[in-house]
Amino acid sequence: MKKMLSGIKPTGRVTLGNYIGAIKPFVSYQDEYDMYIFIANLHSMTVYIEPKELRKNTKDLIALYIAAGLDPNKVTLFLQSDILEHAQLGWYLGCMVGMGDLARMTQYKDKLAKNESIGAGIFNYPSLMSADILMYDPDFVPVGEDQKQHVELARDVAEKFNRRYSDTFTIPQPLTAKVGGRIMDLQDPTKKMSKSDEAGKGCIYILDDIAVSKKKIMSAVTDSDGIIAFDRTNKPGISNLLEIYSILTDRTIQDIVNQYLGVGYGVFKKDLAEILGQELTTIQERYQEIIKGSYLDDVLLQGATVARNIARKKLAKVERKIGITIKK
Ligand code: TYM
Repeated sequence: MKKMLSGIKPTGRVTLGNYIGAIKPFVSYQDEYDMYIFIANLHSMTVYIEPKELRKNTKDLIALYIAAGLDPNKVTLFLQSDILEHAQLGWYLGCMVGMGDLARMTQYKDKLAKNESIGAGIFNYPSLMSADILMYDPDFVPVGEDQKQHVELARDVAEKFNRRYSDTFTIPQPLTAKVGGRIMDLQDPTKKMSKSDEAGKGCIYILDDIAVSKKKIMSAVTDSDGIIAFDRTNKPGISNLLEIYSILTDRTIQDIVNQYLGVGYGVFKKDLAEILGQELTTIQERYQEIIKGSYLDDVLLQGATVARNIARKKLAKVERKIGITIKK
């Protein structure tokens, strides 16, 4: 069985972008792959979050993974900070990654351009992300488009390490869906839907009030020609909604376009709002059941036991190869 690994950081409330670009694909892959899905909470330290909020985001994220359909008996679900080996391997790999390579990462450049004061973690985190990935030797890493560059960096690090110290890491492949890999902001469809969007008007949150989310679909920015067609460049708003529709219904964009020939945006949006509302209702109901009691603690304990076992062995192997331990 081929291996797959991915993670989401609990820096904010889970968005429809996370759901469509990451969680839904994870669920669809779980029967075919040996899967490792984690909560990238070490990565969440790259921005300041109130401790109380971080704890809530973390718990919600694990609950949402399960509410969305991930089965903890099929998938190894774990919390990154439970596996101390990530930070240690991250250090070794960080020592091998070029400053230039880190400096050309789009996410880092975007943050830098905003001119806010930023911590060194934002610069360094792709080396930790390389460790997250390479630790488990996955063949595939399903991510949204914005994370592809970081997976490619992990590939380069793995190749460099294997060349220098002999074959150690599987070279991972990023897996990005052609549809849904980059869900855009509903108010500004030229920018990515993001949990860091403070006003949140263009962003749908999975656990938000469903009526609010439906309204956000109804008031999504489109264009004035009124034709439902897919054209990311010239009609980014309606194309984004078509992608959302396509993923939520598992239908092709062409099929949906054919259905709405000659129909106005209002009708299309209303249908999409309904479809989204139903999906969110199902998830939220399951979430309410899961969040109670100690079930999530048990899931994380079970996941950590499996992940730790792999991580310990891998780190020991790496440490033997690089010569940091005196045992050969
Ligand atoms: P994060 O937490 O920003 O995003 C989690 C996943 O959601 C995808 N995503 C989107 N997909 C489509 N449209 C959007 N608007 C959208 N917004 C987010 C992201 O591409 C990602 O797949 N560094 C990573 C977390 C991480 C990780 C890893 C991922 C840490 N270590 C190892 C994979 C493997 C991050 O910040 O993702």
